[in-house]
Amino acid sequence: MRLVKLIANLGYGSRKEIQTAIRHGWVTDRDGNTLKADSKTAHEDILFDDEPLDPAVGMVLLLNKPLGYTCSVKDQGKLVYDLLPDRYRLRKPVLSTIGRLDKATSGALLFTDDGTFLHRVISPKAEVPKIYEATLDRPLNGSEAALFASGEMMLENEHKPLKPAELEVIDDTHVRLTLHEGRYHQVRRMFAAAGNHVETLHRAAFGPLTLGDLPEGEWRLLTAEEVASLG
Ligand code: URA
Repeated sequence: MRLVKLIANLGYGSRKEIQTAIRHGWVTDRDGNTLKADSKTAHEDILFDDEPLDPAVGMVLLLNKPLGYTCSVKDQGKLVYDLLPDRYRLRKPVLSTIGRLDKATSGALLFTDDGTFLHRVISPKAEVPKIYEATLDRPLNGSEAALFASGEMMLENEHKPLKPAELEVIDDTHVRLTLHEGRYHQVRRMFAAAGNHVETLHRAAFGPLTLGDLPEGEWRLLTAEEVASLG
């Protein structure tokens, strides 16, 4: 891809602005050589204003989503994109969340600009396990684990039963729930159907990926091995 288009697609500016940046010598290689619009330098060797370019198309990143942020590009209030560099919102292809977390849910949220990868990971066939930690309003009644594991549980207004999910009881109001699909408000609706109410919800893991020591509100790029581990 031509240099101007490549840099413009990463959200650094319009094509016109990038042409100007190239003319001013702000686009160089790692040896400090000024690049021209038709230069064929490898992506990882290009610097813009002395900083390495943002990652090429195909990036996947993990955000530790705080409560109160919405998974949307244009909504009222705080958006998960506010926690990423401004440029990322302007990338082409667009950077999308891989599934969603409710505004009132915190934890592991993935983003990618690779549509094929996104669809592979969220496909019902992929069955990537997601682990949620929930605090409940009322003590468990003891029937929930069997109900959730049954493969026969139906949610209101849905036509297909839920896939079996594993409930781990920590104490009578704290649980860990592993889902193998991602339906709308699934955890909250499962507990509501079981006569309870989820007070707090946090996604602790997405497939094999946990947040580790990633602080709340921070993000990091996944390594190639981590991306491969998601399928
Ligand atoms: N289930 C929910 O109810 N909410 C989420 O954000 C994720 C799963």
